[in-house]
Amino acid sequence: MGLWTLNDIPWDRLDRSKLDPEMVKIAKAACMVEYHSGDYGAYLCSVFPGDPEFAAAATDWAEEEIQHGKVLRHYAQLADPSFDFDEAFARFVAGHRIEIDADESIRGSRCGELVARCVVEVGTSAHYSALRDSSEEPVFREICRRIAADEFRHYKLFYSNMKRYQALERVSTISRVKVAAKRLIESTDDELAYAYHCGSGETRPYDRRRCTMAYAARTLPRYRYEHVELGFGMTLKAVGIKPQGALGRFLTRLAWAVFRRYAQGLQRKFAHT
Ligand SMILES: [Fe+2]
Ligand SMILES: [Fe+2]
Repeated sequence: MGLWTLNDIPWDRLDRSKLDPEMVKIAKAACMVEYHSGDYGAYLCSVFPGDPEFAAAATDWAEEEIQHGKVLRHYAQLADPSFDFDEAFARFVAGHRIEIDADESIRGSRCGELVARCVVEVGTSAHYSALRDSSEEPVFREICRRIAADEFRHYKLFYSNMKRYQALERVSTISRVKVAAKRLIESTDDELAYAYHCGSGETRPYDRRRCTMAYAARTLPRYRYEHVELGFGMTLKAVGIKPQGALGRFLTRLAWAVFRRYAQGLQRKFAHT
């Protein structure tokens, strides 16, 4: 059970004059990815079979992610009553299956698995913070504020467990950097792109690259320095590099410069695709 429910959202404050159609498209894609999190919870339970305490926490975590899906779904349907979530989600799940019967982590170690989870959680926290700060619609801002706080709390859950497994498995910094980099690159995999395709109701055939770029062009330019600073800094922390140290500060400034250039390029080329 999460710390809040759909009843805590002030739905009656929805301001239709401030609805942003592009933001509604983002909400439609995000609600399906979040709603699909039960399978990730099952995967984590199968990767940590001898750790019932963590498995219980992972099950609670998955429930909170599913709730994110429900609240974003409700918002998307209020904003666009023609949005058929059941139909879009059925297509999404049919085309994007998650392996849940794994005996061991695809990241090579349990510590690595938890590093990857940290990357995802801090990435989503930064993502919803950027959406909150770039939206003028008050209900969407409130939803994003609550979800961003949850995602940061999830980061702390996985980070504390990662430290525990790091003490047992002694995974090197370079191995953790590789896991984090691989997970960052995977954020351009099919999941979000296909969710965007299914949610936007476009009739043209699915094109992974176009949909990846279309989603990214609608989200990444909304990030400000503080969103990237927090997200990248917490990622550095998860791999064992102090974000406030000289190396950490240098890497964060470099990441921001590269990110901003990339986001500006996306906006120029793909904002209308
Ligand atoms: Fe979430
Ligand atoms: Fe999360």
